[in-house]
Amino acid sequence: MDMDRFLLRDRLWILTAPVGVPVYDFDFRRYFDCRTPYEVPSGIPGVARIGAFGDYGTFHQQCAEEGIALVHSPADHERCTFLPLWYPLIETLTPRSRWFPGIPSLPEVEDHFEFPIFIKGARQTSKHRAVASIVRSRAEFEEAAQIFRADPILHWQDFVCRELLDLRPVSGGTEGKIPASFEFRTFWWKGHLVGAGAYWYEADSYSWNNAERADALAVARRAVEALGCAFLVVDVAQTTDGRWIVIECNDGMESGYAAASPFAIWQTIADIEDGVELEP
Ligand SMILES: Nc1ncnc2c1ncn2[C@@H]1O[C@H](COP(=O)(O)OP(=O)(O)O)[C@@H](O)[C@H]1O
Ligand SMILES: [Mg+2]
Repeated sequence: MDMDRFLLRDRLWILTAPVGVPVYDFDFRRYFDCRTPYEVPSGIPGVARIGAFGDYGTFHQQCAEEGIALVHSPADHERCTFLPLWYPLIETLTPRSRWFPGIPSLPEVEDHFEFPIFIKGARQTSKHRAVASIVRSRAEFEEAAQIFRADPILHWQDFVCRELLDLRPVSGGTEGKIPASFEFRTFWWKGHLVGAGAYWYEADSYSWNNAERADALAVARRAVEALGCAFLVVDVAQTTDGRWIVIECNDGMESGYAAASPFAIWQTIADIEDGVELEP
């Protein structure tokens, strides 16, 4: 892997490698004061932006051996990416869910849910493909289960069923994908909000008003407090009846920026590490 590493504003270790996804990659050196000292100073937290981790435990260990302490322990990383670990901490904020080690039978699913349901892997969907996730009938369940069995992204994950909620739609989604909704991606560093933006950046642009923003952030903040991870991403969406819910949690190291500003996010994180007092 073509990995670059440097200190950002002398406050944060960044390990980075281009993934080739414009909404994920960010050219730190172009916008920030970055340098790579020969001696690794101690006590500076580290963040990796190298895409999805294959084996975070091993990577974390390798970084530690080189004197870089990543902000998330392996347990922190698992807690913010794996639904069976984050769900129990925020059950009241997010659609009712159950998970299965393999693909459940229809009766097993019907013991717990009525259609419609939402299906995904414990970590992710298959690139937001609608037929694999949105299931309104028994026939659609069989179809989604078939896809799950064969899909390279899905088949190795635990199988998650969620209650399908009606989300407030936004215009301009992509044919064949899950419809775009009024949903925002929020970034949190050590409990502070450091950035937010529309989740469906490919859809027609949409934004929240002050009241919507305040309500959405209040829900996201409860998730941040419940999970206790240093660099957390919380996606929140509004239902058609006006409620804000958590769609999922993710590790800030692995998340695309969506329509949030990477410059603002890294600037704010460096400010926090500098001890700058933020507005509440
Ligand atoms: N329970 C649900 N009810 C309604 N829509 C959902 C539900 N879960 C997810 N979605 C929609 O599907 C999209 C993709 O699901 P998500 O869990 O974020 O998968 P991924 O991890 O692949 O991004 C979400 O952004 C949201 O719009
Ligand atoms: Mg998502």
